[in-house]
Amino acid sequence: MNKYITKKNILLTLLLAFIVIQFFPIDKTNPPVELEKDLIELTNPPAEIAANLKTMCYDCHSHESRYPWYTNIAPFSWRIKSHIDNGRRHLNFSLWGEYTEKKRAHKLDECVDMCTKHWMPTLDYKLMHGRMSDEEYSEMAAFFESTKIQKSTLSDFDYLLGSWKRTDDEEGNQTFESWKKESESKYIGRSYTLNGEDTLSQELMTISKYPDNWMLGVQLPGEPAETMFTMKDMDATSFVFESKENEFPKLIKYKASEGRLDAEISGDDMAIPFSFVKM
Ligand code: HEC
Repeated sequence: MNKYITKKNILLTLLLAFIVIQFFPIDKTNPPVELEKDLIELTNPPAEIAANLKTMCYDCHSHESRYPWYTNIAPFSWRIKSHIDNGRRHLNFSLWGEYTEKKRAHKLDECVDMCTKHWMPTLDYKLMHGRMSDEEYSEMAAFFESTKIQKSTLSDFDYLLGSWKRTDDEEGNQTFESWKKESESKYIGRSYTLNGEDTLSQELMTISKYPDNWMLGVQLPGEPAETMFTMKDMDATSFVFESKENEFPKLIKYKASEGRLDAEISGDDMAIPFSFVKM
């Protein structure tokens, strides 16, 4: 037995190590908070739920992390810092406004799941901050669920309805597009380009609701099937559909404003804009 390995020496070494690691504090600077992107600002939950989100979730899932005294003590501070970095990477309520509709829906599902199973906050956080009651958990789950429903009822494309004429055609060409609503879950659009008497191109479009998402199908005459695009983002007056497999376009974007419709189809390094006015 080496005479230096005594109980006393081991304790002294540990103490020394503990003192040395205190010289490596964590970075506590929070990124700036932009309230117009914040979940609570955007969804306006009841006060109690907002308070619980702030005290039980925001320390790791926002730019408003608080750092109580024990976050000064290594090595606990390192573990806390890694929870904050990791938590923000997975879900950041301070950047809620930047998330696409699809990402929000997915994150809301996960939040409902975490609340129903009581899996969040993390175990060591519960030890330091106390737990939420079963009732508080189910209220929070219900809030996340209702936020999801609010968003999906917003999904309609009525702003497309009617006939549109393109204003940025090539010389001599005239492009028209028209949309009608076949049902609450299906819109049909037709577009064609004329040059004098000749029809240069035509296409048929459908926007249909599948159980959990909208899809856009585009079909040219003579093509056996529609090319399908999945919904990437949408709000009350715009949408983006995407197909990663299609050669061109990969993205189809529309944005409506007073009597106008601005569209863009784009692929790897090409983008074609279309501007329409209501007829
Ligand atoms: C102590 C920090 C901490 C607190 C507080 C916290 N979380 Fe988390 N959360 C994390 C970490 C870390 C992860 C990533 C887990 C992993 O690595 O899989 C996570 C993951 C999640 C995820 C999964 C996201 C994904 O993309 O997989 C959800 C949803 C979530 N947390 C919701 C919440 C909710 C709701 C609260 C409040 C009730 C909360 N969290 C409180 C640290 C925290």
